[in-house]
Amino acid sequence: MRLETSFDGLTFSNPLMPAAGPLNGDYEKLVFLLKEGLGGIVTKTISTSLPQIPKPCIYGDRDFVMNSELWSEHPLRKWTDEFLPKFKEINDKPLIVSVGYSEADMEVLIPKLDRFADAFEVSTHYVGTNLDIISRIVETIRKHTKKPLYLKISPHIPNPEAFAKTVHEAGANGIVAINSLGPTMKIDPLKRQIVYGNAAGYVWTSGPSIKPIALATVYKIKKAVPEMTIIGVGGIKSADDVIEFLLAGASAVQMLSAALLRGKDLYRKIIADLPGALDKYGFKDVQEVIETTLINPTRYELEAPVVNFDTCTKCRLCERICPYFAISFTNKIIVDPDKCFSCGLCVAKCPVGALYFSAFEEGL
Ligand SMILES: Cc1cc2nc3c(=O)[nH]c(=O)nc-3n(C[C@H](O)[C@H](O)[C@H](O)COP(=O)(O)O)c2cc1C
Repeated sequence: MRLETSFDGLTFSNPLMPAAGPLNGDYEKLVFLLKEGLGGIVTKTISTSLPQIPKPCIYGDRDFVMNSELWSEHPLRKWTDEFLPKFKEINDKPLIVSVGYSEADMEVLIPKLDRFADAFEVSTHYVGTNLDIISRIVETIRKHTKKPLYLKISPHIPNPEAFAKTVHEAGANGIVAINSLGPTMKIDPLKRQIVYGNAAGYVWTSGPSIKPIALATVYKIKKAVPEMTIIGVGGIKSADDVIEFLLAGASAVQMLSAALLRGKDLYRKIIADLPGALDKYGFKDVQEVIETTLINPTRYELEAPVVNFDTCTKCRLCERICPYFAISFTNKIIVDPDKCFSCGLCVAKCPVGALYFSAFEEGL
């Protein structure tokens, strides 16, 4: 099955790349990622100064990561003289070099990194929300390179559509959506301390919990500027998630936190799982998913869900969670159509899929 995706003159053997972070922080780590079979490789964000990173800096929960990491702890010279020349010798995948942050940084970074990059990704995480400043950063980069250019949007940018239009007009090819969410906070009640946090007490949150925000940002941007390339990132943990991002409007995806939480071999697993996931949803290849137009059949009237008694295990979870007190149990689950609001919570939460809306099953 063809997993290939192409855009802006670049071809990726599959749509999964690593997102900028600790796993692409030096030569050795880039080599590890290359061996995992990813469609393209991305570097950690490189800048002109060295960051001061508060430690500890990566907290992991079940479905989210919190971090106070900044950009690469290695100086630009280390990247240009050691990591990237060595990596270029063995790399056969498109290499996206991540850079940050200001116009002045770009004047230094782009000329020095251009010969190593197949494309640039620009972090705007610490740049603020002023679109004039962001536009000037793009124009500055464009003075020094013709390579594909992707601006990475952070969730604290208030208007993703305006951000996309601005950077498109300034000369960017696309958007990487999204960076980590924040500022957020982690408190240790026993120690009465902020163990994980920067000097102001904050961290950035990423991982499966932020996937809904990332998906909506991809969708918003694709609707606002359809001709722009979107690389989706934020919360991906499975091949099914990759497909969701492609349906929302992305042409490729990146992942970091799920690999931090579940293991670095997750990249390899997702690529291996992708053909099966495409098949399960009736797609012949990755390109077909990208070209599919997502439909949104908003309904204001919907009949109460139906119970499949052959599947129902009588666990009664639906009865306990129904917000409208419409579900009761006398030997079997009974949904009271007069009380039911057709909210869908029981359908979503039933562990064996025994509740369903007949309208959706009929594809109406
Ligand atoms: C520990 C850590 C370090 C990160 N460092 C960078 C970075 O240097 N540059 C950047 O653009 N994003 C950075 N990010 C953000 C990720 O690239 C990504 O956008 C975000 O984590 C959402 O994707 P995920 O949920 O798959 O991790 C970092 C995230 C984490 C967790």
